[in-house]
Amino acid sequence: MKKIIIAIDGHSSCGKSTMAKQLAKEIGYVYVDTGAMYRAVTLYAMRNGMYPDAGIQEEALKAAIDAGKILITFRFNAETGRPDTYLNGEKVEDEIRQMEVSNRVSPIAALPFVRALLTEQQQAMGKEKGIVMDGRDIGTAVFPQAEMKVFVTASAKVRAERRYKELLEKAKTQEELAALNFDEVLKNVEERDYIDSHREVAPLRQAEDALVLDNSNMTREEQSAWLLEKYKEIVAE
Ligand code: DC
Repeated sequence: MKKIIIAIDGHSSCGKSTMAKQLAKEIGYVYVDTGAMYRAVTLYAMRNGMYPDAGIQEEALKAAIDAGKILITFRFNAETGRPDTYLNGEKVEDEIRQMEVSNRVSPIAALPFVRALLTEQQQAMGKEKGIVMDGRDIGTAVFPQAEMKVFVTASAKVRAERRYKELLEKAKTQEELAALNFDEVLKNVEERDYIDSHREVAPLRQAEDALVLDNSNMTREEQSAWLLEKYKEIVAE
């Protein structure tokens, strides 16, 4: 069967990655979470004093990128059945999902030199096709020629509820639990929507030829079935 590129874009916390991972597994494709790549760059900046509360030290970050100091890779984790994200050889999968990173990632993702670096790496990953990639600009900027494009969305409230539940489940200590606040999660979702849709380079927008999926009232199983059906239609064409 012919191999294609599947681009899945949409708002934050709309369940894109769960759907994309599931589809990749079902059809034997490689899955790439591009949000994790922007998160890993953010973590690098935070750890190296390039992202203090006062804002991003753009020049220092650009110099690190130009010097090839930021290498992001993925390795399949047989236990979870999913790829883990590595920053310069260190597994950072859990750390990049923390609120401290979520709250800082959108301004990093708006920097043209960060986007240029990651877009190039993503295009290289899709050279052989047979890939499911999720993000914000995959169908518009990274692979405008993708054979299958899906734009996923859901209301901000539904997305914040999902993210909040996920964070509750992940909290390991009483302290972490106590620090969680729904209004803060909702605010973070809304702020990221705004920054992601209004940045100058590759803003989040629906590709004209994308299939649209509003999953506010759908179960995971219904979404997965919908996605698999669309894939089958496209490869049969
Ligand atoms: O999908 P996520 O929440 O892990 O994404 C993290 C951030 O990275 C989010 O603010 C949007 C940004 N992003 C992007 O600008 N382009 C992508 N292709 C993927 C993510």
